[in-house]
Amino acid sequence: MLESKFIQDVLAKAKQYYKTIVLPEGEDLRVLKAAHMINEQKICKIILLGNEPQIKKDFINNGWNLEGIDIITPETSPKLPEYTKLLYELRKNKGMTEEEAKKTALIPNYFGTLMIKAGDADGMVSGANHSTADTVRPALQIIKSAHKDRGVSSFLVMVSNDKPYVFSDCGVIINPTAKELADIALEASLSAIKFGFEPKVAMMTYSTYGSGKGDAVDKVVEATKLAKEALKTDEFKDLNIQLDGELQADAALDMVVARKKAPTSEVAGSANVLIFPNLEAGNIGYKLLQRLGGCEAYGPVLQGLNAPVNDLSRGAFAEDIVGVIGMTALQAVRK
Ligand SMILES: CC(C)(COP(=O)(O)OP(=O)(O)OC[C@H]1O[C@@H](n2cnc3c(N)ncnc32)[C@H](O)[C@@H]1OP(=O)(O)O)[C@@H](O)C(=O)NCCC(=O)NCCS
Repeated sequence: MLESKFIQDVLAKAKQYYKTIVLPEGEDLRVLKAAHMINEQKICKIILLGNEPQIKKDFINNGWNLEGIDIITPETSPKLPEYTKLLYELRKNKGMTEEEAKKTALIPNYFGTLMIKAGDADGMVSGANHSTADTVRPALQIIKSAHKDRGVSSFLVMVSNDKPYVFSDCGVIINPTAKELADIALEASLSAIKFGFEPKVAMMTYSTYGSGKGDAVDKVVEATKLAKEALKTDEFKDLNIQLDGELQADAALDMVVARKKAPTSEVAGSANVLIFPNLEAGNIGYKLLQRLGGCEAYGPVLQGLNAPVNDLSRGAFAEDIVGVIGMTALQAVRK
């Protein structure tokens, strides 16, 4: 992964900002190795959560340098009462008791997320030993969506023949409504800009400009309309985002097909942000490209949160974790 030009660019850019990233899985050697690699290159300030003597031992045994890395053991942290209170205040309306808050704040993924909420870290990467839901839920509950009426979704960067594309949503929202699909497209456009793209967004389904019929097509047509309206608002109007739909994948990507099926479209044939109609299509689509098409896949990375929290695949290697830390650090840059 680390040979990838995309990731090298991400890491070089992230290094300019030296963001603070918390890694709650300090018991996992892959996470420790990734922490060491990031720290050695001074890309981010790393905070590890876990058992301090054990982490120190693991670093010494592997010949890694801990200088520059902070270790926090939630149980003995002087910040624990502050984070517990913060959690209780944020969740009491949802029925959380003070007793529950005391227990929950000690869970590393909650502790890490509370560090971000309290301003003590810029982002978090977890999931080497936790399910997606366990990693993502504290972020949804505590960090919440950046935009009050847009939900959190995810994107991947897929690289095919050295050309990067943004795919969304392949990881979070199972069956989006038209409004949610429009929001996914808007958030994916913002993610694309953050990662250096000039977004040309294709709202994809099995129909191009009315060639196919069905409720699924109607949903994408409606989502396209809603997203185009949103692009005229102050938040988006100066961002130079082009968006069109509904388009099939071939019309979105292949200029010859695009000229036949959607000759008036400014996006068709040259799309670089691909929006899938639901999680089944998106998740299957990216994994097929990764396994059969030889594409590199980076993500899924969450988008639309007030601060970045990202999930790892449980099979991740230390090098993969380094890549996700770099992407998370870049997401934490506010511009
Ligand atoms: C992300 C996911 C785990 C959240 O599910 P969950 O934990 O059951 O979430 P809940 O419905 O209990 O909601 C928990 C909180 O998150 C919020 N939330 C849930 N989804 C959200 C979203 N997409 N955006 C913003 N907030 C969201 C809820 O509003 C709720 O907030 P509240 O407690 O303050 O009211 C769920 O959407 C999911 O399982 N998605 C598919 C993940 C997957 O399997 N991906 C494929 C592999 S990558």
